[in-house]
Amino acid sequence: MCSEPQYSLIRAKLYKFNTKTIHSFTPFPLFPFPCSPMTSNSQLYQLIAQQISQRPQQQITFSEYMDWVLYQPQHGYYATRDTVIGPRGDFITSPHLGHDFGELLAEQLADMWVALGRPTPFALVEMGAGQGLVAADVLQYLQEQHPNCLQAVEYTIVEKSAALAAEQQQRLQPWLAQGIPVQWRSLDEIPPNSIVGCCFSNELVDAFPVHQVVLTEAGLQEIYVACPAGQAGESDAGKEESLRFREVVGELSTPKLAEYFECLGITLEIGAYPQGYRTEVNLAAFDWIKQVIQLLQRGYLLTIDYGYPARRYYSPARSQGTLQCYYRHAHHDDPYEHIGHQDLTAHVNFTALERWGEMWDLETLGFTQQGMFLMALGLGDRIAAISHMTVNDPVAMQKALRRRDALHRLIDPMGLGNFGVLIQNKGLTVEEKARPLKGLTVPT
Ligand SMILES: C[S@@+](CC[C@H](N)C(=O)[O-])C[C@H]1O[C@@H](n2cnc3c(N)ncnc32)[C@H](O)[C@@H]1O
Repeated sequence: MCSEPQYSLIRAKLYKFNTKTIHSFTPFPLFPFPCSPMTSNSQLYQLIAQQISQRPQQQITFSEYMDWVLYQPQHGYYATRDTVIGPRGDFITSPHLGHDFGELLAEQLADMWVALGRPTPFALVEMGAGQGLVAADVLQYLQEQHPNCLQAVEYTIVEKSAALAAEQQQRLQPWLAQGIPVQWRSLDEIPPNSIVGCCFSNELVDAFPVHQVVLTEAGLQEIYVACPAGQAGESDAGKEESLRFREVVGELSTPKLAEYFECLGITLEIGAYPQGYRTEVNLAAFDWIKQVIQLLQRGYLLTIDYGYPARRYYSPARSQGTLQCYYRHAHHDDPYEHIGHQDLTAHVNFTALERWGEMWDLETLGFTQQGMFLMALGLGDRIAAISHMTVNDPVAMQKALRRRDALHRLIDPMGLGNFGVLIQNKGLTVEEKARPLKGLTVPT
């Protein structure tokens, strides 16, 4: 039987110190909980095993493994149509709580348009757009509240998953039909120095593949993924129970990993950190931010995600890192289960994004929490408006109460409200920088 319980998991509502994980579920009474447990995708397992067998040392980095299980074009978690974010999938994100998140974000984007002197075109580049919910809410809100801004908008979606891009195209059909310029591009397809506007993302950077490192007696080493002994490249379709990779510890695969910690002023050594201390490094975020900066001529990079500043991220107490697996609104620590059917994610090091930005003239304008950001953009007024509503119809009353609950969840300091919001800028004049952005002002 599988009709209960009905939960929905917000990924950042997990606080992991040492090996103890506190699960925090929030009731979200929408859809039945799926029943039959899904084992690993054996075709994906075989593809990864073949990759491993072709390597001289019969192993791949954890980052390569994570990239394959999430993004392999035919079988990866984000590539398959039956893998969905949302109440029917494995976790929900802010836009699944209604239109308010996207609308308030649109309020910030319209404010940026004004701050930049109302440029035409005004490029909005959404990276990692999931099901296209934010894009739909932003375009709808701009159409209703800021039509002049919408007239200037050129909306570009950068999406790695072909299945999700197809879903986005379907969802945005009404705007495409009206001739509103929405296009899908890879970052490589966008000309350098061409963007005047804002590049933004919600829960993108946490979805990048990460390297895993571990502190041993020999110093900082890396975690690699290998096949079970004697199995590399062998075909084992059908032997579900044996589809399990193993971890191997070895030398760092690239000097960039040691340079990363040097750049942050963090020395991972025994004494200051316990032996066996394990954590992640998101080098993909380095390549990503470098590329975005090269595309940006003038404007903003707005990043919303769960994460910490470097000192908190690499606290000795966080001895097992932040890597988490999400499967059907539950979470666990085993990335070698449910291969291709579960999400893998790691928290974001916001300090690294700031440091790397500064290397290429991307300057931090502000870092705040999602709760503060959305309140500054008017979320409090929305809650107040619901409280002052006179509703006699019980159905409408239920709807209003649900929306009020969703608004509270967006700013919950133990959940989504604690997400980081980092706004960086490139090419702004001194006057433009001095003008406070709405989302970074103190909420009244
Ligand atoms: C956790 S989902 C977040 C989706 C959406 N922003 C939301 O808030 O619901 C991560 C999204 O980023 C996409 N993604 C991951 N890596 C990417 C990359 N390098 N470039 C573009 N999209 C990427 C995934 O396919 C997915 O759409």
